[in-house]
Amino acid sequence: MIRIDGVKVAKEVKEKLREETNQIVNSGRRAPHLTAILVGLDGASQTYVASKEKDCHEIGFGSEVIRMPETTTESELLELIEKINQSETTDGLIVQLPLPKHISEKKVTDAISPLKDVDGFTPANFGLVTRGEGGYIPATPFGILKLLEAYKIETKGKHVVVLGRSNIVGRPMSILLSQASPTGNATVTLCHSKTENLEFYTKHADIVVVAIGISEFLKGNMLKEGATVIDVGITRVSDSSNPRGYVLKGDADYASLEGVCYAATPVPGGVGPMTRTGLMLNTLEAYKKKFNLD
Ligand code: GUN
Repeated sequence: MIRIDGVKVAKEVKEKLREETNQIVNSGRRAPHLTAILVGLDGASQTYVASKEKDCHEIGFGSEVIRMPETTTESELLELIEKINQSETTDGLIVQLPLPKHISEKKVTDAISPLKDVDGFTPANFGLVTRGEGGYIPATPFGILKLLEAYKIETKGKHVVVLGRSNIVGRPMSILLSQASPTGNATVTLCHSKTENLEFYTKHADIVVVAIGISEFLKGNMLKEGATVIDVGITRVSDSSNPRGYVLKGDADYASLEGVCYAATPVPGGVGPMTRTGLMLNTLEAYKKKFNLD
């Protein structure tokens, strides 16, 4: 089974981004800039935001993390977003999710200017992406398309089963894979928690994209021989034998895929690094749009 190496592909994409950023800066322009807002102290979110900051640094982007206390009110957050929407020096703006319970994620993500919405969460971007008319592709689906491309995994005419219908991953992924494009043209089945006889679909899939947040849910015996598995899940599972007290698990039971699948993404080191790469690609795109470059 081919281990789809997201770290390697992410490195290659980041290298290209670094070269392009260098050229921009050498021409006398400022570097693209990503701003992230982090509310509260969620452990996983802090790790994600730190990784995004590191990626920006490696590529040569400017970056800034605005850390807000857990007690921040919705209106304070909306005010901050509006200020950054107007800022000349920020090209991309993300608000790390999840947010504390007293803040509406919908209101907050909808408040981000579609021009700076490099997560691709706003209705304006979702609409454009759905219609195949540009717009920022949400980072995880974008990263997955890049992985499929890098490993030359054909989607045209294939049956792809997407497990999970979130607005961030499953829903846009299913739409993108069915579009008339080099990484599309697939026949897509979108399965979710109410799907009956799920195994019928997974057994008839050439590619399964699993994004349901249940660790090791998808097993090799639910798949047909030669299938490819793209695992979006990343759950912290308690493990006292690990110095951190937890281990990271995907939505697929990777070991059980061996001998059945053609290829699969590991967790960690598969989709995760590519999600961040998707975000970086969108940030450069936002910068270029702003300055009418290429
Ligand atoms: N939380 C989990 N995934 C994401 C993501 O892609 N973007 C943001 N902003 N928050 C997240």
